[in-house]
Amino acid sequence: MSIPFNFDKATVRTGTHSSKWDKYSADIIPLWVADMDFECAPVIMEALQARLAHGIFGYTRPANDWSQVVVDYYQQQHNWTIQPEWVVWVPGVVASMHLSCLALSEHHNTVLTPEIIYPHFHSIPVNCGKQRHLLPMTYDQQRLRLDLTKLSEAPTTDAKIMLFCNPQNPGGCVYTHEELKQIDDYCQANKLILVSDEIHCDLILDQNKKHIPYGRISEHALHNSVVLGAASKTYNVAGLACSWAVIANDTLRPRFKAAMQGIVSEINPLGFEATVTALQAGNEWHSQLLDYLRGNRDYLAQQFATIDGIHMLPLASTFLAWIDISELNLENPTAFFEAAGVGMSPGSGFNDKRFMRLNFGCQRAVLEEAIARIRRAL
Ligand SMILES: Cc1ncc(COP(=O)(O)O)c(C=O)c1O
Repeated sequence: MSIPFNFDKATVRTGTHSSKWDKYSADIIPLWVADMDFECAPVIMEALQARLAHGIFGYTRPANDWSQVVVDYYQQQHNWTIQPEWVVWVPGVVASMHLSCLALSEHHNTVLTPEIIYPHFHSIPVNCGKQRHLLPMTYDQQRLRLDLTKLSEAPTTDAKIMLFCNPQNPGGCVYTHEELKQIDDYCQANKLILVSDEIHCDLILDQNKKHIPYGRISEHALHNSVVLGAASKTYNVAGLACSWAVIANDTLRPRFKAAMQGIVSEINPLGFEATVTALQAGNEWHSQLLDYLRGNRDYLAQQFATIDGIHMLPLASTFLAWIDISELNLENPTAFFEAAGVGMSPGSGFNDKRFMRLNFGCQRAVLEEAIARIRRAL
């Protein structure tokens, strides 16, 4: 019999230097940065406590069997066969995107990146001294995704890297096999390496959808991609800074690793411990988390359906609702909702100011209070 985990349990996070909770001094419910308010799985807590009890936290060498854990995870969860030597451990996914741009596109000036996307995708090309070319996106069928009909309009002669996010943040779209194949064909025609940020891939809420790792699409995709993953979002251990890049290509991988030398610090032992334990033993907690998040998503969808001027897009994955507030005609939406006591991420940060992003990785009661505040303010 499975143990029921209590996702309704509230844990005070203020005063812990939490980016999310210590942002506001006023009474504002923080529903912004993408971490959740749930204590992590007991099995992870136990592993961390056992590691802590050892008392020595020296430099830590990723063991081969830890890479094998990632191999087994992809095989079991995503039906993707990879090799342990393809796994490169990196403290963060954003760092891996920077590294890919720096190491794999030395002689190219342009980086292709989706138009409406998690803010780092906009800043990474610029931080790497490149031009950013935005790939058009569409809301066709209420689903924010790359507009594949317009892909061919991108100027690719000077681009080597295309940044991609699946599931998409914001919007939560889960790309289909057909879409991924179309993207792969485009990359093949234009000699592009695709950097696929798949950090949210284990947060699929629609039970009729499945995540497909980009490298599974074709031999070409496998050997011309960097696929990025982590346990950080799904298991709420983002502060422990541990992620991986899967690079199958034996020429690209050493270049990526060389770019890390002396710049990217080693992963801390607790980050490894949490990640490996999550992948090996987190399934039961994970499946109950998804049930709870589905309930939160459905609650929000029902509520917003009855609030004039706010439209929540159907959400297939992630704990990040993408809500259209354009009909409210607010001059400063962030300030308006903060004054109401609800702190959300402004859509402008993702390059669509008609929207706000609401993080519902929290107790249902907190969401109920947030909705009550929004109703009062409107
Ligand atoms: C799509 C996406 N990529 C990357 C990150 C951050 O990853 P990391 O903390 O591993 O750099 C986030 C965090 O919100 C995210 O949503």
